[in-house]
Amino acid sequence: MKTFYLTTPLYYVNARPHLGHTYTTVVADCLSRYKKMQGFDVCLLTGTDEHGQNIERAAAAQGLSPKQLADQITAEYQKLWARLGIEYDQFIRTTESRHYAGAAEVFKRAFNSGAIYKGQYSGWYCISCNLFAPESETAPKCEVCERPTERVTEESYFFRLSDFQQRLLDHYGKHPDFIMPLSRRNEVVSFVSGGLKDLSISRTSVKWGIPVPDEQNHVIYVWFDALVGYLTGIGFAPGASAESFQKYWPAQVQLVGKDILRFHTVYWPAFLMAAGLELPKQVFAHGWWLKDEVKMSKSRGNVIDPHLLLTHFGSDAVRYFLLREVPFGLDGTFSYEAFIQRVNSDLANDFGNLVSRTLTLVAKNFSNGMPYPSAIEGRLALDQELEKKALATVEAYQSHMNGLAFSKALESVWDLLAHANRYLNDNAPWALTDNLAERPRLATILYTSAEVIRITAVLLAPVLPESCKRVWEQLGMKSPLRSQRIDEIKWGGLTVGSNLGEITPIFPRLDKKAAIEKIFQESGAPVVGSETKPEKATAAGASAKSVKPQPSAPPVAEAKVAAASVPDGKITIDDFAKVELRVAQVISAERVPGADKLLKLMVDVGTETRQILAGIAKAYSPESLVGRKIVIVANLQPRKMRGLESNGMLLAASVGDEGQPVLAGFLEDVPNGAKLK
Ligand code: MSP
Repeated sequence: MKTFYLTTPLYYVNARPHLGHTYTTVVADCLSRYKKMQGFDVCLLTGTDEHGQNIERAAAAQGLSPKQLADQITAEYQKLWARLGIEYDQFIRTTESRHYAGAAEVFKRAFNSGAIYKGQYSGWYCISCNLFAPESETAPKCEVCERPTERVTEESYFFRLSDFQQRLLDHYGKHPDFIMPLSRRNEVVSFVSGGLKDLSISRTSVKWGIPVPDEQNHVIYVWFDALVGYLTGIGFAPGASAESFQKYWPAQVQLVGKDILRFHTVYWPAFLMAAGLELPKQVFAHGWWLKDEVKMSKSRGNVIDPHLLLTHFGSDAVRYFLLREVPFGLDGTFSYEAFIQRVNSDLANDFGNLVSRTLTLVAKNFSNGMPYPSAIEGRLALDQELEKKALATVEAYQSHMNGLAFSKALESVWDLLAHANRYLNDNAPWALTDNLAERPRLATILYTSAEVIRITAVLLAPVLPESCKRVWEQLGMKSPLRSQRIDEIKWGGLTVGSNLGEITPIFPRLDKKAAIEKIFQESGAPVVGSETKPEKATAAGASAKSVKPQPSAPPVAEAKVAAASVPDGKITIDDFAKVELRVAQVISAERVPGADKLLKLMVDVGTETRQILAGIAKAYSPESLVGRKIVIVANLQPRKMRGLESNGMLLAASVGDEGQPVLAGFLEDVPNGAKLK
């Protein structure tokens, strides 16, 4: 049997997963199910990348050990994958002992081949991305995340990346599909053609990592460590690797976001070459999900919580939207409006209606049993055209799926659904039900339509596994849907005469306005507000006009600070200096009973913990705030609200007509209590 090994990136464990992380894994699961239904022996690997300074720091900020944080976040990932119906075959955590041994082994092999040497490193380093920046006099911004870098000087092991330039270029040349899409390939080829510098691949300043073999002061660079997870997760080990490694490596496709392209198409193949291991067949880099026009990310505070979508719309709708809305490889903008639109028009109208119209008529007119169609010669051109269209769709779908063009594959299926809906309208089977002479024609129309539904359910099973299973049961099919082969679909597979299952709507239509309002109310997360463009930031000195007063709670940043006293509305630097702005971290947050806008926060301001009340409950759920760094006015006179003391005030922008609060925050990690000047 042909094997197919595919991987997602191993996710960092410094924060909970958001929709961006969900994307790669949903795509991988869909591809894995598709390949299984083509008869491949598939292995899908995902996992977590648990070492490095960013995790060390995130854990310390929460008073946890790195392993405790890693355990918590890994459990979050696994819980999310279960809710989304992700069926991974391997889950690798880089803190597992099987991974330690494998990573040390790859390091040793590369060292023994002469690709690693010891030297001194001094350079600008981005702690968040675990990446050195090009040399410059002052701290440059990280090329990937644009945060400031920090100076690091230490003894280090180096990987002779410079020696691999030609070998990499040769590989790209010989394997034009190695990097996809092509635009990304060109980007990498031009980067490598510009020359490669040796890469520092160990750290003495970081403790949370895998020790370099025979060198206990150094830990292996976290990217070297994590990439090897693709090998250890399927059984690579010192001495003899497990049979599964021999069976599955090299991977057919490694799915990554465009931000980690260079690690996977320059460093990773060079590490493998140095260790004498085969290279993956393909690395495919997808685009980003954006919110409010920028990449969705925890540090920007603009993430969509996938659990929210799952609770309100179910896993199939989430899977469908991610795969259908944006061509794989390009960026896409998330909006609830677009999401609900897709569910209603594609799933409820086009697919759901075809199923319920057809099967309800079958159930009513043929005693709940799938009818026999007329013999070939009794069929009309219209019937045969639909059959032809269905079989052509099977081909088109597979050719798009094989090229990872998921949205195109789905478009082709929706083209077939449109054709089938037209076929029903044109033939109007509901007008034939009372005429006995028309029963053979009625049977043929309904059979033809049901056969399209059967084929569609097989094609869509990798994308909509739960719903297609229900459609399958409603059709009265006996063999399991999962055992169907997409590459062997033929016309005429319905089990004629078998009883249909219970006909219930597969995708109920959503009321857009009500659905959006419900999410907003239940979660406290900004839904519509965050979809409007950000407006003026409200800060300590902002005029009172830009802040809409809210009846039961004070506006978040209602500070009118000292502004009033100076005639032209300007304040002096001394006025400003009176306001003590500090970084604080939310330790706990809860709603205030009876006040629907108010949250009670306990915040750590470096030297103490204090209580602040804030009118942000409609925009932020309490859980989403815990751990978050915010800005507070620290020297505000304490005051009482609803019998509770508020000792300070937090800052937020006021956005849109409703004055939606959006909290001020930082892209970099900042210590609690740091003063803003
Ligand atoms: N730990 C590394 C990967 C090591 S692989 C050996 C890492 N982790 S990550 O958690 O930061 O990101 C994992 C994946 O999530 C990346 O492919 C990244 O592109 C993807 N996404 C994170 N935010 C995203 C969006 N907003 N949109 C789409 N995908 C994005 O990098």
